[in-house]
Amino acid sequence: MDESLIEKQNGNFANTVLPAVVDSSKKYSVIYADPAWSHYNDMTVSVEQNKAKDFISRNPYPVMSSSDIKALPIKNIADENCILFIWTTDYHLSRCCEVIKEWGFEYKTVGFVWQKLNKQNKPVCFMGNYTLKSGVEICLLATKGKGAAKLVKKRNVRSLVQSQREAHSKKPDEVRNRIVELCGDIPRVELFARQKYEGWDAWGNEVEESINLEKSANNGR
Ligand SMILES: C[S@@+](CC[C@H](N)C(=O)[O-])C[C@H]1O[C@@H](n2cnc3c(N)ncnc32)[C@H](O)[C@@H]1O
Repeated sequence: MDESLIEKQNGNFANTVLPAVVDSSKKYSVIYADPAWSHYNDMTVSVEQNKAKDFISRNPYPVMSSSDIKALPIKNIADENCILFIWTTDYHLSRCCEVIKEWGFEYKTVGFVWQKLNKQNKPVCFMGNYTLKSGVEICLLATKGKGAAKLVKKRNVRSLVQSQREAHSKKPDEVRNRIVELCGDIPRVELFARQKYEGWDAWGNEVEESINLEKSANNGR
């Protein structure tokens, strides 16, 4: 791994430790993001902090504050016309709308609602310790550019996804499939990805091959 490259990328985001980085000056028509929101607060927690024994707010992975999420140079990888699908927690909904705006997009609608099921295919209803107990997660749809509506090729794709919970924070693969069904085979990238899927570029600190947001940013200026 190229240490200087990692250092450069770490410069902007304290907790970013990127794996193998692939150069990319590509622009994407679809951006699918599952930000590492922190849990019931709004802070950046680095890998090191998260591992520290006495750290109060432990998360299953490093997390980012909404300001750090906003600061990601997404404008530089988004094509002139682009659709953004972005997962939010109920707690961070208003912050997610700010992120959408800051990344250069306009909120349009709720893209997907994931109803989590347990192993018996019964709705899971014990998440959330703030007020109500929720069993769903939502993924907002936002667009950029006057021609973005034309990126939607099918009008019969459903927003409700009902599927069993898998690993912590893992979203159903079905959502990725439905995005392709909706928009067709156009340049697309998954942000905060854990795995690289066929047809998708990826960015994230756990994925084996990540695009370089900074490099894309420089190319975009
Ligand atoms: C909510 S999880 C994504 C889960 C994924 N969508 C799935 O279905 O498995 C957020 C991911 O962002 C990663 N992450 C946290 N901070 C990051 C950073 N600064 N740069 C890149 N990735 C980061 C986490 O390690 C985690 O893999």
